[in-house]
Amino acid sequence: MNLKVLYFSPVGTTKKVAEMIATGLEAESVDWIDLTVPSNRIGGLSFSANDVVLMAFPVYAGRVVRVPRYYFKQIEGNGARSITVVTYGNRAYDDALLELSRLSAKSGFEQVAAATFVCEHSFDIGLAAGRPDVSDCDIAVSFGKTIKQRLLDGKVGSKVEGIIDTIPGQFPFRTQFRHDFGGPLVPETSVACINCSKCTKKCPVEAIPLDNPMATDSKKCITCYRCIRHCPVQARKVNLPDFIDHAEWLADNYKTRKEPELYL
Ligand SMILES: Cc1cc2nc3c(=O)[nH]c(=O)nc-3n(C[C@H](O)[C@H](O)[C@H](O)COP(=O)(O)O)c2cc1C
Ligand code: SF4
Ligand code: SF4
Repeated sequence: MNLKVLYFSPVGTTKKVAEMIATGLEAESVDWIDLTVPSNRIGGLSFSANDVVLMAFPVYAGRVVRVPRYYFKQIEGNGARSITVVTYGNRAYDDALLELSRLSAKSGFEQVAAATFVCEHSFDIGLAAGRPDVSDCDIAVSFGKTIKQRLLDGKVGSKVEGIIDTIPGQFPFRTQFRHDFGGPLVPETSVACINCSKCTKKCPVEAIPLDNPMATDSKKCITCYRCIRHCPVQARKVNLPDFIDHAEWLADNYKTRKEPELYL
């Protein structure tokens, strides 16, 4: 099996889930394509019918995060088999798995499986803390093993249309999960900043100028929390009061543990 792992993972939890599924798939060769890195999104990607492509992206506001979603215009599946996976922070994945599965089909992939996994919420509010945990990782590895066996048995091709039909979600996709926080939802930089430029180098959308980490381009920023997590002196923070209230509301109202869901 030629496995290609196409992922976007600002905070790293989606990558961890993808690693576990890839472990279970036991491919002879694995290419990791990290779409979090802007230079990896220059130019298109073309796959072949011999490839198995694991796609793993986080849910933002009930949809597939927009950076890899937009990048799909440059992807040609050419009959490669796809496994679509979305990760989310224990609120809900809403339309995201359906959206990813539709993108996969539209780009010429033959979908063989899909899944959702709960991961620690990027907002760092204690929601789904520590996930994916041991149980999630075990499920991810065994999901990969099951797919591998089905591919070997030649059992997956006939189920392609069946999988997408069983995935919850609404099309046309809903937009009501987006919130108005009364201002651009971007991190601010405090005077603690030591100008190390880590945030600039890590930003997936090049929203932080190298010569001025105090400034963040609100048109580019996707509020992914990557810069906040990598700042060595905790100088970056989203300070909007409405957003802080929303984050607290999430933490209070979505404590009940959700489990991975597998579509095979
Ligand atoms: C801007 C933003 C919006 C999010 N929206 C949702 C959501 O609608 N539902 C949910 O359960 N989690 C949501 N999350 C949480 C992420 O989907 C989750 O933490 C994911 O695991 C992050 O992946 P990463 O660690 O690879 O960056 C959101 C996170 C961010 C940053
Ligand atoms: S500036 Fe915005 S998009 Fe860039 S890393 Fe920070 S939160 Fe993410
Ligand atoms: S990572 Fe933190 S300390 Fe370094 S430049 Fe960015 S804000 Fe400043």
